[in-house]
This record gives sequence, structure tokens and C-alpha cells, in this order.
Amino acid sequence: MKHLLSITDLDKKELTSLIDFATQIKANPALYQDKLSDKIIATLFFEPSTRTRLSFESAALRVGAKLIGFADASTSSTQKGETLEDTIKIVSGLADLIVMRHPASGAAKRAAAVSKVPVINAGDGSGEHPTQAMLDIFTIKENKKTLENLNIAFVGDLKNGRTVHSLSLGMAHFNPNYYFISPPSLAVPAEIKQALNLNKIKFSELTDWQKIAPQIDVLYMTRVQKERFNDVAEYESVKDAYILNANSARLFKSTCIFMHPLPRVTEISAEVDADPRAIYFDQARNGLWLRMALLISMKY
Ligand code: NCD
Repeated sequence: MKHLLSITDLDKKELTSLIDFATQIKANPALYQDKLSDKIIATLFFEPSTRTRLSFESAALRVGAKLIGFADASTSSTQKGETLEDTIKIVSGLADLIVMRHPASGAAKRAAAVSKVPVINAGDGSGEHPTQAMLDIFTIKENKKTLENLNIAFVGDLKNGRTVHSLSLGMAHFNPNYYFISPPSLAVPAEIKQALNLNKIKFSELTDWQKIAPQIDVLYMTRVQKERFNDVAEYESVKDAYILNANSARLFKSTCIFMHPLPRVTEISAEVDADPRAIYFDQARNGLWLRMALLISMKY
């Protein structure tokens, strides 16, 4: 593997072997502590992040790598007007791998085009977030014991939510049945639907979950992506469209799992956290093992 820009850069075999590797690492993380002791990894975060950056950095440190980078582009030369391409050319001469997040869709691809070292996309605007999808798939496998033939509901901001884009493309290897539940203005983008159609994936688009809730195996909630709206009033009108609380959680079966890439805002009430079906904090923690597996598996 060279760069990881989209979840579609991995075929089914690569994806499942990475997940198997993450499972092994989770069982015995200390075995891998020196794997990358000769590597320097750069984390370049041009856009806010808590989980993804810290999880990558913790993963890198746990496999022995050293870190450079920034968590806030306002402290980098971007502030002086340096282009993304120039920043990447410089950093790729200093580090062995670049992990980057950027507000513009396609930014990771632009970076990869000028980088001398592998680039991992840690989120590019409304584009993709492949490592989130990988940790989501790892978590689904761990909890459902299979990835095949699942009914998966994606709920919320399916237009701007890059985790949904990557996860729906990534799970397409496993014969899923998708329900995309959103207000019409936040529907899943045409390119994603096109890709699913090409792969003959069954999906339907709905504006509420009432009817389909009892069949769902995986409920994937998402945040309405405020930062991608130009109009605050428009954001306000859709932000609370779907709320998972103790009451609405009753619609879903006992074996359904509740997932969310986090951060959540109002779409999942804190009262749901104690529900055994709520696995979003375990899901976030799984990012560590998955990213250790990924960092070790990259071709440097
Ligand atoms: C997501 C992201 O950044 O796309 N967060 C994450 O990486 N876990 C989801 C979000 O911001 O809503």
C-alpha cells in the first residue's frame, strides 16, 4: 500500500487482513512496541480533531515511532499563505509518513501527488475518512461476529458526513442492505449512490426510521456538520432531525448496535450511554489498535 486516500484503496482481502491484524494487536499490544522505532510520522491537522489525531499519535508512539506535526494550522506557515503542496513537499522530506486532515475535499489527494512519502487521509472536508471506516468495520466485526449481510442504517448528515461516505463504500464488500435516513437536504451524495449501484448494493433513502428500526443490525448515527453550512438558519432547521434517546432506542432490537464516529452533539442523549447496545466509546478506542495495525502495514 502506498497512500491511503479513500477506503476504496483497499480491496476486501486487504481490509479484512488489517482488521484481523488489529484484533491480534488488541490482544497483545506490547508485542509491537518497537515495530516502527526507526520512523518519524508527521501529523498535519489543518482542521480540528480530538480523537483522530490523538489516536494516530498514541498508535504511532505505541509502535515506537516518533512524531512531528501540528494540531492547529494557524501555528504553521499556512497562516503566511503557504500552499498545501509546498507544506507537503517540505514535510515529506522530514518524515517517513504523513497523516493529514484538511477542510477541503480532495486535499489528501493533492498532497499525495507531491509527497515523497505515504499520505494517510485523516479526513478531507466532506470527502472521506478511511481510517474511521476501518475502525468502524473492525468494531462491527467484533460485536456482530460477522460483516456479511447486515442491515445498516446511516442517520443524520449523510451529505457532509465523510465517515458515512467511507463506511458505506467499505462495507460494500460484505453484501449489506443500507437505509440512508436524513432530511432531503442532507441526503447521501450522488457519487456515493453511483458507486453503490455499480456494486449492486441494496439501499433505500428515507426521512425517518420508524418503519425500519426493528430490522436494523447497525445504527450509525452522525453529527450534523455545522462547519460545512454557509447558512446558520439552515443548520438550525435540520440539526435535531433525529435524536436517539431512551424512548427512541426502544424501537431498535436488542441485538442492534448503536455506533457514532463522535463527537456527538444532541443526536444521542447521554442517557443512552448506559444501554448495552451503545458501543460508540468502545468504537473510538478501537481506533488505536486499528491505527497501530495500519501504521505497521504501510509501505515506507
Ligand atoms: C468525524 C470526522 O471528523 O469526520 N470525527 C471523527 O474523526 N471521529 C465525525 C464528525 O466530525 O462528526
